[in-house]
Amino acid sequence: MLKPEIEDGQASLADPSFRADVLNGFAMRPRAIPARWFYDRRGSELFEQITDLAEYYPTRIEAGILRDNGPAIADCIGAGRAVVEFGSGSSAKTPLLLRAIDPAAYVPIDISGDFLRESSAALSSAFPGLPVHPIEADFMHPIALPAGVADLPKLGFFPGSTIGNMIPASAVDLLRAMRKWLDTGAMLLIGMDRLKDEDVLVRAYDDAQGVTAAFNLNLLERINRELDGTIPVEAFRHRAIWNDMRSRIEMHLEAQRDIDFTIEGRPFAMAAGETVHTENSHKYGPRDARILLRAGGWTPIAEWTDADDRFALILAEAQAPRTAP
Ligand code: TRP
Repeated sequence: MLKPEIEDGQASLADPSFRADVLNGFAMRPRAIPARWFYDRRGSELFEQITDLAEYYPTRIEAGILRDNGPAIADCIGAGRAVVEFGSGSSAKTPLLLRAIDPAAYVPIDISGDFLRESSAALSSAFPGLPVHPIEADFMHPIALPAGVADLPKLGFFPGSTIGNMIPASAVDLLRAMRKWLDTGAMLLIGMDRLKDEDVLVRAYDDAQGVTAAFNLNLLERINRELDGTIPVEAFRHRAIWNDMRSRIEMHLEAQRDIDFTIEGRPFAMAAGETVHTENSHKYGPRDARILLRAGGWTPIAEWTDADDRFALILAEAQAPRTAP
């Protein structure tokens, strides 16, 4: 929630952690701003447009995998679980899962509050009788699940290859945290994008229409709007770069000329060609994906992919406490 703050007699709507991340992000080298700040209202809308792009294959393929394998997925998961979705966004894929598995409750977690409320309301009317408990939160911080689902077995649902937006160390931390929040007997259904041709990957993050560029550049607009910034947005270019060593697409905002600007009165300068790093999307081969899950405390038990193995939906169960060796 944005809480008004009083500073020098002036009301400011800025979120203090947004301010801190932006000021630190422009000050450090290399410059980088955490990806969570993409998702204001406008950013969430632009992201939904990305998922419809011809070049952006993951959403379409993942939905197809869910659609084609409903009964098999339901067999493995069983009925009566509370589905806890991390980063639910528009909840576009959720009905495919909920229809297949007959759950006892749905807990969508998202950082964008008004977006969350709208999609929860739509889902409630599509599934009358299903208790829906939306949580407005950043799931990178500890989450308390609602009391109403305490006694139900949980299914974590983490689609969209969002796990790939974390560096591996953070991905493992998050997987371990999910295992703790979801408790004993939990399962996790997670989407992970596969390694593939560099051309296909770069195009997915740099589409011809420029929607992904607009999504990336919206971060600068948001800084201007909420942190009284004077960034010349038109002087920046969206870049999507494949980093093979780290097996990831990187998104950057690159200054096209030497620029000076201020954020809440503080001066910053960037030279032509310098970038701000804004997002990573790691890609995992089949074995990489399973090892990542095991490192995070989850045992993979089933896996579904499309015919070309472009994307994987993996079902895992919470690991029993570790035994030798
Ligand atoms: N997790 C998805 C991916 O990495 C979606 C996503 C997150 C994304 N941030 C993005 C897509 C930025 C495009 C641009 O593909």
